Amino acid sequence: MSQHDDKLSRRELLKSATIAGTALTLNTRLAKAEELLAEPPAPSGASMMNVKFEKLNTVRLGIIGVGGRGLGMLSEWMAVEGLEVTAICDIDKGQIDKTLKRIEKAGKKAPAVYSKNERDFENLCKRDDVDFIYIATPWDWHVPMAVAAMNNGKHCGLEVPAATTVEGCWELVNTSEKTRRHCMIMENCCYGWSEMLVLNAVKAGLLGSLLHGECAYNHDLRAILNENRSEGIWRRIPHTKKNGNFYPTHGLGPVSNYMGINRGDKYEYLVSMSSPALGLNEYREKKVPKDDPKWKEKYLCGDMNTSLIKTNKGRTIMLQHNITTPRPYDRINLIQGTKGLFRDYPDRIFVEEEGSKEEEFVSLKKYQTKYEHELWQAAGELARKNGGHGGMDYIMVYRVVQCLREGLAPDMDVYDAAAWSVPGPLSELSVAKGSTPVKFPDFTRGKWQDTRNVMA
Ligand SMILES: NC(=O)c1ccc[n+]([C@@H]2O[C@H](COP(=O)([O-])OP(=O)(O)OC[C@H]3O[C@@H](n4cnc5c(N)ncnc54)[C@H](O)[C@@H]3O)[C@@H](O)[C@H]2O)c1
Repeated sequence: MSQHDDKLSRRELLKSATIAGTALTLNTRLAKAEELLAEPPAPSGASMMNVKFEKLNTVRLGIIGVGGRGLGMLSEWMAVEGLEVTAICDIDKGQIDKTLKRIEKAGKKAPAVYSKNERDFENLCKRDDVDFIYIATPWDWHVPMAVAAMNNGKHCGLEVPAATTVEGCWELVNTSEKTRRHCMIMENCCYGWSEMLVLNAVKAGLLGSLLHGECAYNHDLRAILNENRSEGIWRRIPHTKKNGNFYPTHGLGPVSNYMGINRGDKYEYLVSMSSPALGLNEYREKKVPKDDPKWKEKYLCGDMNTSLIKTNKGRTIMLQHNITTPRPYDRINLIQGTKGLFRDYPDRIFVEEEGSKEEEFVSLKKYQTKYEHELWQAAGELARKNGGHGGMDYIMVYRVVQCLREGLAPDMDVYDAAAWSVPGPLSELSVAKGSTPVKFPDFTRGKWQDTRNVMA
């Protein structure tokens, strides 16, 4: 064997060892998910469904993660009356400095700071002057941080997705039930102007009996994924390890609200398939210098993942994920009933009623007077001024603070957090098994039949 052959064979050996390693973690992850689907964990407390927050005069907020999203949301939180930011945490000192400056500029009191190391968030969670902790960190940190918050007696709100594994979803549910603390999912897309208007219209029966929904997170993130900062540091990694839908909740949240998922209906099973994974390779070819370590990566996640969900009432939901090809932003946000349908991007509605033209969509504005949501009527002006994502970010935090101050139950509880996030690991399982159906866990343990009002 020549020296060259020897080098080659060693390289080949290393390559196959890496592939075997990836396969092993993949199989371990899938096996664990299957195990939990076959035998869900025992409950560790009573249900948190419909449990009200204790009333607070002022909401004292702790924030873990002041990166792109956490810092962006800071101004929204600070604009809400009756809220005070008492503590912040991030391992990036630069982000901490930016946050402190912004708080000072707003004329607010400086919060306590936690930035010593990756576990310093545990010290923030122990503070007595924090009621609610907003967690805006990379996905793998969501569950340990939420668990630490609840174990220390704090309610928390998780950025999306709440968890990336079946195990993580159950851990959130069981910890919330055990500690009697809420674990909300901060799904801002549920608070968009059109989403809330359509929710009101659906509740009033405008679209008739619901049949089918379509939703997605189709957003070209190739540039962000390839940056050497912020999400570029961690969000590309799952593409080298898994194949499925990593970001289901922006699409599913609103459609699930229309359908009353966990409020009389529930997801039963899902089938999923992925297209080839080509987008990140083509982008790297064009944009990434040849000596960049990213060239060692192998992308496994199909650019377009499509899942179909069947609900207990027999309805269907198509759910897509595509962040690696050039395309305009689209969450689809479609809901079809027996009397008509709504479809977003741009928003348009068709209702079979007196005066409607056959087969012709009209703008949703036609229904504004009748169905605009009360939250948008009350806070729409401020929301548009503060601006994040067309105002939905402000409406969401305004509502969270309202629920905490008035002692209401949260709009989106731990059961929504788990149900909307779990298509992540379930889609991976279905794709890996040739698109076979995968049954959803019932995180509510039978309580989904409670037909409580959505966002009441
Ligand atoms: N709802 C939305 O519209 C929306 C938009 C963007 C991002 N997000 C979500 O927000 C979350 C954060 O995303 P991002 O864009 O801000 O990412 P980012 O990388 O910009 O910020 C994450 C921050 O977390 C910090 N961090 C990491 N590990 C930590 C630890 N152990 N302790 C303390 N801080 C730690 C990082 O230093 C960084 O500042 C993700 O879950 C993402 O999916 C949601």
